[in-house]
Amino acid sequence: MNSELSAFFDHALPAIDASLDRLVPSESTPPARLHQAMRYSLFAGGKRLRPALSVAGFALCRPDWNDVLPVACAFEMIHTYSLIHDDLPAMDDDDFRRGIPSCHRKFGEAIAILAGDALLTLAMETIARADAFPPDRLLRVTAMIARAAGTPAGMIAGQVFDLEAEGRPIGEINVEQIHRSKTGALITTAVTAGAFLGGVSEAELEAVRVYGERIGLAFQIVDDILDETVPMETLGKTGGKDRDQQKATYPALVGLDKSRAIVAEITGQARRSIEGLGGRARILLSIADYLETRSH
Ligand code: IPE
Ligand code: IPE
Ligand code: MG
Ligand code: MG
Ligand code: MG
Repeated sequence: MNSELSAFFDHALPAIDASLDRLVPSESTPPARLHQAMRYSLFAGGKRLRPALSVAGFALCRPDWNDVLPVACAFEMIHTYSLIHDDLPAMDDDDFRRGIPSCHRKFGEAIAILAGDALLTLAMETIARADAFPPDRLLRVTAMIARAAGTPAGMIAGQVFDLEAEGRPIGEINVEQIHRSKTGALITTAVTAGAFLGGVSEAELEAVRVYGERIGLAFQIVDDILDETVPMETLGKTGGKDRDQQKATYPALVGLDKSRAIVAEITGQARRSIEGLGGRARILLSIADYLETRSH
């Protein structure tokens, strides 16, 4: 990661974490176990990519990005909820997440399910209360987020496509469609919602949308590559699971080398889509570079 991007993260990530801390009920608020579970997963050390993208999108027009923090945090809440549910025995059945036992391993399945549900609903409440923005803008953002998290084009649809594809011959599966919906939709919307609230033009918003779509797809392909190549200690979650569970991934479809080449090609498309934004897009360009080469 270059020094400009690490300075951006050094500034934005503590602000995101402080906002999350304010927005989520304390561990002692009843029902305490639920709030402990939400905080356990939320503060276990994720990369904060989605809220960072909202901040970077907003900063295209508004360098004073504090106002967008609640909306940025809503993306992290939805993402963390998706991880908690993704790890459940009925889904990917994963014992580790973010370097510690997964939420259901620590709190049991019932609380883990409800902690995920509560993070999703808190996200919607948080956006509705983001009163730095006019109601019509928030309404559009609410619709964008709900669509990206839901179905038929969003994350829930993608998670169903992912589960349905398990064990089926890879040649019969549209892996790109799975990745775009289960992972790409939320990442795309994180950056576009930020840019929209910051006040970009419709043409710029479209450029940012293409950027988000491209880095979102590349992000899941890199996740699939890391699953096969990086040990648990670095990954913070169990490696080698995709092959065990016969998941539909790019490495299964085209092998590791071709997957890496596809990531490079798609990341190039992301970069080119925001070229027209000039110097304002430097952080977004650096994020694309970082995602292409990340090791966890
Ligand atoms: C993991 O997301 C799940 C995918 C969508 C691939 P991240 O790799 O962003 O997980 P955290 O937030 O850093 O834990
Ligand atoms: C998860 O994809 C996408 C989500 C919406 C959570 P994976 O199942 O590959 O994510 P990891 O590898 O468990 O983080
Ligand atoms: Mg999964
Ligand atoms: Mg998983
Ligand atoms: Mg994975």
